[in-house]
Amino acid sequence: MTGVSIIGSGYVGLTTGLALAELGNNIVLLDIDPEKVRTIRSGQPPFYEPGVSEMLSEHLAKGTIRATSDYHDAVMDSDITFIAVGTPMDKDGRMDPRYILSASESLGKALREKNKSQIVVVKSTVLPGTTRDLVRPLLLRTSGRPISGIGVAMCPEFLREGSAMHDSLHPDRIVIGCSDDRTYSALEALFSPLGSKVLRTDTTTAEMIKYASNSFLATKISFSNEISRLCEAVGIDVYDVMEGVGMDKRISPHFLRAGVGFGGSCFPKDVSALLHMAKGIGVETPIMEGALRNNDIQPIHLVDVAERLCLTLKGKRIGVLGLAFKPDTDDIRESRSIPLIRELLKRGAVVSAHDPEAASNFLNEVHGIDIQGSAEPLVDSVDVVILMTEWPEYRNIPWEEKTHLEWVLDGRRTVEPARMMNLKYWAMGSPLP
Ligand code: UGA
Repeated sequence: MTGVSIIGSGYVGLTTGLALAELGNNIVLLDIDPEKVRTIRSGQPPFYEPGVSEMLSEHLAKGTIRATSDYHDAVMDSDITFIAVGTPMDKDGRMDPRYILSASESLGKALREKNKSQIVVVKSTVLPGTTRDLVRPLLLRTSGRPISGIGVAMCPEFLREGSAMHDSLHPDRIVIGCSDDRTYSALEALFSPLGSKVLRTDTTTAEMIKYASNSFLATKISFSNEISRLCEAVGIDVYDVMEGVGMDKRISPHFLRAGVGFGGSCFPKDVSALLHMAKGIGVETPIMEGALRNNDIQPIHLVDVAERLCLTLKGKRIGVLGLAFKPDTDDIRESRSIPLIRELLKRGAVVSAHDPEAASNFLNEVHGIDIQGSAEPLVDSVDVVILMTEWPEYRNIPWEEKTHLEWVLDGRRTVEPARMMNLKYWAMGSPLP
């Protein structure tokens, strides 16, 4: 059993902590937000994620996980510390390293008082070079300890929101970036019960592996969306096309689902951060620029089609189903519903919306819409429905009966087209009506 402390109790921190507790380790979660610490201690995760609440209660009861806001307490009770704080975008789309720097500094100061060696692992998504050039020197300076006293590593996280626990316990690979053998062996032993493939590399390569993975997946989706608009125009279905494309082992069928574009806290943020880094060092990146541009086009394209089909959107009552950037989360960051609804409002539509988990988060972001508590009454009260998040409950709506609707437009292939035969239904990527 290893003592592990984790700085930052967001998605990555809490799920990493729970996964390591499942593997039989003792976990201290550290967060500087006392409110977060209080909710975690009461068994409530600070975000919605399937399975997390049950697992947290179980480990709190067993005493294998606890939460604190005291760095000294966390460091004294652990041999390995993960840094899992957020690396948000600043207003220009660059990575903002502020939380990484403050966490490293506080950690370094706490380590000053510890005379045993400590392993520090950066788990946050940070630009290539951050661990080597910022975190490590800051830890050494603030702790006043020799290089041998602190083993520094970078292990990127590949979990997806909505399946965070599953992904943490069954990762395709574990990437361990570090240069000293002692640190590598300790981390390999920590992760070995997962039985996943392990790749050893240096910290900067590990950081780039994360950015390149996210940028590639985002580009794959955008590529599929670009082909999707072509398919619509030539009268075929992009899902049939991608079925054939994805059968090629070199391509794989994953992340080829065309639709209204990618959202979330990672793909848009990470591609943008890499673009800015490239610009700063004079490297051209037209492929990734295209991926982001395509992602801006998709929601506006959906509004264009809605306007063409309805002749005008002025005064049209439009119900938007789904505000979260994907199902099984209450996260609305970069959700494609944000630009879509803004554009609908700009063109004079009257917008009502629903989401089973994300409605209250959305109201802080977009004003001028009516949020409804249930999906079916909303469908009954509008002229046009736009499906934006493929929540399973939207499939249970008795669509066959909703013949009053002028159009149902599906941005995510949420419902079976066969059920929509007696309605005017169009899914993005299928032939334009
Ligand atoms: C993404 C990556 O998939 C994770 O591997 C990574 O760890 C994470 O970012 C991160 O950097 O933290 P996440 O953003 O949680 O995970 O969600 P995804 O399931 O990847 O979906 C992102 C967006 O892409 C969603 O809006 C989804 O609807 C969209 N998407 C996904 C598509 O439009 N088409 C697809 O085929 C797949």
